[in-house]
Amino acid sequence: MDLSTAQTTNIFNWATEQARTIVWLEWVNLAICMAILFTVIGLLTYAAIKFRGKAGDADPPHVEGNLKLEITWTVIPALIFLFLGVLTGTVMHDVNPPVGKRLPDVIVNAHQFWWEYSYPKTGVVTANELYLPEGADLLLEIRSADVIHSFWVPDFGQKMDAIPGHKNNLFLKPVRSGLFLGQCSEYCGAQHSLMRIVANVVPQKEFDTWTQSQLKVPAAPTDPTAKHGEELIMSKTCVQCHNIAGTKAVANVAPDLTHIADRKTLGSGLLENTTDNLTKWIMNPQQFKPGCYMPNMRLTESDAHDMAVYLENLK
Ligand code: CUA
Repeated sequence: MDLSTAQTTNIFNWATEQARTIVWLEWVNLAICMAILFTVIGLLTYAAIKFRGKAGDADPPHVEGNLKLEITWTVIPALIFLFLGVLTGTVMHDVNPPVGKRLPDVIVNAHQFWWEYSYPKTGVVTANELYLPEGADLLLEIRSADVIHSFWVPDFGQKMDAIPGHKNNLFLKPVRSGLFLGQCSEYCGAQHSLMRIVANVVPQKEFDTWTQSQLKVPAAPTDPTAKHGEELIMSKTCVQCHNIAGTKAVANVAPDLTHIADRKTLGSGLLENTTDNLTKWIMNPQQFKPGCYMPNMRLTESDAHDMAVYLENLK
């Protein structure tokens, strides 16, 4: 799987306006906590050295309480908490503003164990590889088709749960082009760990080109192997779950295969997208992702190969 060009992730990275705000709050919190830590360590060290007991010292005076000191060490932390609370509230509001009547740019629908991405404004539907235009103010609607999942690309900022029967909103303004990786972050079943999120942020122009290419109906196969592959797919139960534009496969239970050849990976970031890997996947998906909903159809290798050849022509 070639995701080697992906950005490396750490907690101080940000690739969206929202993540930038959250990382800024992280730094403020960290700075205040560090200041407290070093003040406490400093005072302790000072007291330990300065007031160190020597042999023959008399008992020090017993202090029963000190009102001024007690008020000080109650008020200062209360002010720090208040300050951080107000900042946190402001950041939460900035990152999750009211949605109002705004329509989503992308609907993220989580499935066991893959991601469906649809763009209601253009009609594009794809799976597992998300494309977003750099610099655009985007609203993602996060849904689930089955159990609770969670959409999380660390560089984009917060996690957002995907809850069946409930729509959540995630605002993103990507500020940097690149390939960003994420992961389903709510345990959702046997293949939870193989729900990779592959997010491509591209310049607006490239995004428009991608959108146009996704809206095209792929040409019917001409090569005899691919033709045979198409016949097999159309005559088997594949069509009860998958959609391929321009054919009689119109179901939407499983990933849309209309432009599967354009994707880098198979099985939600699991395998590199090659004819060979797709053949193996079609023969026995359970070998790669035990517990996923695609069954082993007991196909011969030659049939599975022809189906893979057909699919790898769908651009
Ligand atoms: Cu989906 Cu964890």
